[in-house]
Amino acid sequence: MKRVLSGLQPSGQLHLGNYCGAIKQFIRLQEDHEMFVFVASYHALTSARDPQQLRANIRQVVIDYLAFGLDPKKTNIYLQQDVPQVTELAWLLSCVCPKHLMDKATSFKDKVAKGLPASIGLYTYPILQAADILSVDPDLVPVGEDQRQHIEITRDLAQKFNHHFCGGDENGVFRLPHPMIRDDSGATVPGIDGQKMSKSYNNGIDPFMEEKPLRKLIMKIVSDSTPIDQPKDPDRDTTFQIFTALAGKDDPRTVALREKYVSPPADGFGYGHAKQALFELILEEFGEARRRRVELMNDPGYVAKVLRDGAAAAGERVAAVTQRAREAAGL
Ligand code: ADP
Ligand code: TRP
Repeated sequence: MKRVLSGLQPSGQLHLGNYCGAIKQFIRLQEDHEMFVFVASYHALTSARDPQQLRANIRQVVIDYLAFGLDPKKTNIYLQQDVPQVTELAWLLSCVCPKHLMDKATSFKDKVAKGLPASIGLYTYPILQAADILSVDPDLVPVGEDQRQHIEITRDLAQKFNHHFCGGDENGVFRLPHPMIRDDSGATVPGIDGQKMSKSYNNGIDPFMEEKPLRKLIMKIVSDSTPIDQPKDPDRDTTFQIFTALAGKDDPRTVALREKYVSPPADGFGYGHAKQALFELILEEFGEARRRRVELMNDPGYVAKVLRDGAAAAGERVAAVTQRAREAAGL
């Protein structure tokens, strides 16, 4: 059985982009893979400055993972800080990481341009991510396109460490993981303003919102001014793109909606109708998750147990990998 590792930063409420781009894959993969899914809280510290808020966000990501359908019987769910050896691995990797490898990482420049403090932690963020990944020896790392470079850096660092400390043996301390990146139309979900949906653009749709504000938000999705009785181009419409990402391109609901854009019925079909269809789709797709989330919010004991078990399982693997790396390096 192949092993999978991935994680998300607890930097704010998760949105439909995170669900379609990441969590949906985790839920599918857990059926026939050995799974490690964690909360990247150390990474979030590169931007978080409000401890209370960070604590709440960390807890919320775990609850949302569970509500969306990650099953702790199939997936080890843990917090990064509960397996602190990853920071030791990050140090070992940083000692074989040439500075120019970090200089060419694009996410540092992008994030600083967006106003994040240019800390050393942000600069070496990819090394910590490499440690997260290599620490459990995964075969596959499902992530969005924006993370491709980080997986390349991870492979590079693993090879460098093996080269220096294992006589170049390809099967040295670290195994080289493979990225698993979606290349279908759901790869990038647009936000309500038409840009990539992102926590940092404040354009996200949170599928757990109360119904009334959720509907109001969906009605705000950008659209052009084509009149109600005229045909519309579904592929250029943000509402349709979000609908497709969530339901799937070939789903009968998507096919039926596309038809209404292209040939509106006699009584007309406007963007308001499309938005109403998206609202109903979200309630349908997430009805169960919304109910489960309320239960989970009221059961902190269960959530704590999931995290304890997850950290124990991950900790065992991470301890073995860390020991191999220490010995290879002469510690
Ligand atoms: P954000 O941009 O909201 O801060 P992150 O960078 O924390 O999101 O991304 C977490 C995961 O969710 C990554 O695997 C990323 O590829 C995926 N993801 C984020 N936004 C989207 C989107 N709009 N469409 C598809 N996947 C996304
Ligand atoms: N950098 C990832 C993101 O912003 C989060 C992350 C941290 C991660 N460590 C990881 C993802 C290890 C996959 C594997 O989405």
